[in-house]
Amino acid sequence: MGQVYLNGEFMPLEQACVPVMDRGFLFGDGVYEVIPAYGGRLFRLPHHLHRLHNSLTAVRIPNPLTETEWREVLTQLVRWNKSEDQSVYLQVTRGVQQKRDHAFSGQPLKPTVFAMSNPLQAPATVPLTTGIKAVSLDDVRWQHCNIKAITLLPNVLSRQEAIDKGAAEAILIRNGYAIEGAASNLFIVRQGMIITPPNSHLLLPGITRDLLVELAATHARPYRTADITLEELRQADEIWLTSSTRELLPVVELDGKPVGNGQPGPIYRDMHRLYRDYKDRVRAGEAD
Ligand code: PDD
Repeated sequence: MGQVYLNGEFMPLEQACVPVMDRGFLFGDGVYEVIPAYGGRLFRLPHHLHRLHNSLTAVRIPNPLTETEWREVLTQLVRWNKSEDQSVYLQVTRGVQQKRDHAFSGQPLKPTVFAMSNPLQAPATVPLTTGIKAVSLDDVRWQHCNIKAITLLPNVLSRQEAIDKGAAEAILIRNGYAIEGAASNLFIVRQGMIITPPNSHLLLPGITRDLLVELAATHARPYRTADITLEELRQADEIWLTSSTRELLPVVELDGKPVGNGQPGPIYRDMHRLYRDYKDRVRAGEAD
């Protein structure tokens, strides 16, 4: 890793230290973003910065940087890191408080801003051709899952439970509806129709999800946003999961039973091709 960014300065990772009284450390009081960069170009940066702004507003932390400043900092990090494909992580916490107190209105705090960039594993290393296994688990998270909060204990435990059960991801079920993965958004295919749950306070408005919906619309693929019951999930012809780091992954086994014929489906392959083409255009500087 090259340099990281902390509170206005670039420095080696080893030198980046945050006081233990930081509310991010004590309360998980902060928000974050994960932004891929392909061939040195940040993927869908305006969308990520827009979601960051929404998360910050929702938790009442002032945005510490302007859009131009964010772009400069993140571009600099990507430039330093030599890898072709990278994953940029940024985090803003409410800042350091003198005394531990759940409430934050006592004194104006200066947000702590941290960002780093790491090599992004080539998607080829992920089993795109064989697909992954998933398990359904109760969604035990709060009611504001649209906020990209660093407070991720339910997601962490769900992902680990999935791994303990021999799967790669948990699909979270709330009140009989399939919502999203522990760190990914959910799509199914039924009788040729691509379906993803509508954005709401129950799930993260995924940048990859939104791009797939956009690609389906642009290329006239049949799709709709609709709630998905657990029963519909179990009977789906195809299931996919999307995220910035895992792109678009086919789920071929759910709770130990094959999805469709147990292979990545034809609509998955079609949409994955459209996604890869879009990524190549970003790499070539023809899209963002
Ligand atoms: N997580 N839903 C949840 C709960 C997530 O944590 C993520 C991504 C997504 C997909 O969003 P996007 O397409 O914008 O990456 C959906 C990131 C990658 C993470 O926590 O590392």
